[in-house]
Amino acid sequence: MVDVTTGPAVAEGSGDLLVVPVMSELTWGPGADWVAAALGDWLGPHLTGREFTGKAGQIAVVPSAGAVPYASVAFVGLGDEVDAEALRRAAAQAAKIAGAYGTVVTTLHQVDIAEATDLVTFGFLLGRYRFDRYLSEPKPSALETLVLAGADDPGERGTVIAEAVARARDLVNEPAGYKPPTRLAAWAAEELGAIGVGVEVWDEGRIAAEGLGGLMGVAAGSHQPPRLVRAHYRPEGATTRLVFVGKGIVFDSGGLSIKPAAGMETMKTDMSGAAAVLNAVWAIARLGVPVEVIGITPLTENMPGGGAIKPGDVFTARNGKTVEVLNTDAEGRLVLADGLSLAVEADPALIVDVATLTGACMVALGKGVAGLFASDDDVAARIEGAAKDAGESVWRLPMEASYRQKLESEVADIKNIGDRYGGAITAALFLKEFAGDLPWAHLDIAGPARAESAEHYLTKGGTGFAVRTLVALAEAVANGG
Ligand code: BES
Ligand code: MN
Ligand code: ZN
Repeated sequence: MVDVTTGPAVAEGSGDLLVVPVMSELTWGPGADWVAAALGDWLGPHLTGREFTGKAGQIAVVPSAGAVPYASVAFVGLGDEVDAEALRRAAAQAAKIAGAYGTVVTTLHQVDIAEATDLVTFGFLLGRYRFDRYLSEPKPSALETLVLAGADDPGERGTVIAEAVARARDLVNEPAGYKPPTRLAAWAAEELGAIGVGVEVWDEGRIAAEGLGGLMGVAAGSHQPPRLVRAHYRPEGATTRLVFVGKGIVFDSGGLSIKPAAGMETMKTDMSGAAAVLNAVWAIARLGVPVEVIGITPLTENMPGGGAIKPGDVFTARNGKTVEVLNTDAEGRLVLADGLSLAVEADPALIVDVATLTGACMVALGKGVAGLFASDDDVAARIEGAAKDAGESVWRLPMEASYRQKLESEVADIKNIGDRYGGAITAALFLKEFAGDLPWAHLDIAGPARAESAEHYLTKGGTGFAVRTLVALAEAVANGG
């Protein structure tokens, strides 16, 4: 990753590229006025020639021809009103063109917004994100350092969170063939272990012995054995415990209720919840947030092999409830049934599960917004607040109790599908059976876990959605929120 440092004020520094913010109608932002004055008459024609007006999303690069000690200057549009998201996006915009320069200096963080250094480092670092490990000729980059001109701090928190999001994206974008549950679990043990987080990995023997019938059932159709990761961050002096549970289906073929080819194409991303949970724990530990956090991720493939669970089969979940599986493609809730049961046993102040759970949620809210379900208004408000602070979009959907009857089974305590309507809600009602009476929230990230095209700090593929919200939640809890 790119190194981020503080540096001298813009008038005293130097570098290969200077990135300065410009507001609508060419109102100069911090740093830009100095550059404009230094470049004088020469600048005006250059910018107008490029139809650059300072609108958000615009960027214009001009060679400074020795007029300032920066070889090139990038003017980045911030639009009429700067908010946190505009700043993240502007930094990402600058990052996109930064690969040609060794040292990039910026004044973007000098705009009048709280935690601006964190927002700039976050947007910039994720604007550089690429998943190119399987390209024989990855696009070369000369970029080594981002310098925050005249800053008091180098935006360390933004860097840690960006890195956590990038790590989540790497796991999500990894081809399913290269991330069987065994390898994902080994990754978690190594990466989280390296920063002092306790990691327990349950193998298939332990998973069966512990009574995780849902995870065993979904894994039955695969040659790859399941794993369950339990990561435990326990800082000294912490008084509150949170448990995060992440859906970790490393590939969702649908099982015997097999998906059509088009529906299967992106299903290596069905472990986005697990990737978010593990990397949120990573970031929370790196930041030293004084809250105890347990991350639980059931990991398995959902495949239609000869041993596969069959429509009509019944299993017993960890909490003793029996489940009739009528559609093997509704598998996320089966592994979460066990994950949530384990979460309840840890007796936390709050449980949050994160899952690419239903296509129905994507139909309801589109690709950019996660569905939020909560056990009560207070929990909902906490998650909404954390998401807002973090810059992620969530929208609360109702836990409509009258729909619970759709899940009535004749042969078991509950069945795993409802009818064709309100699918995100019936999925949430299913999960509720395993969350006990504890404060609990469920984030259905089927839409926002994956981006269909590159846009500002997102690239096509995994987005790392929910890492930021979970970290912000832990921070809010630490601050007594
Ligand atoms: N992983 C899918 C949900 C999904 C679909 C996520 C598309 C992202 C993009 C989940 O396991 C699934 O298949 N859900 C079914 C449930 C149905 C069988 C009740 C669905 O949404 O169709
Ligand atoms: Mn499925
Ligand atoms: Zn799935």
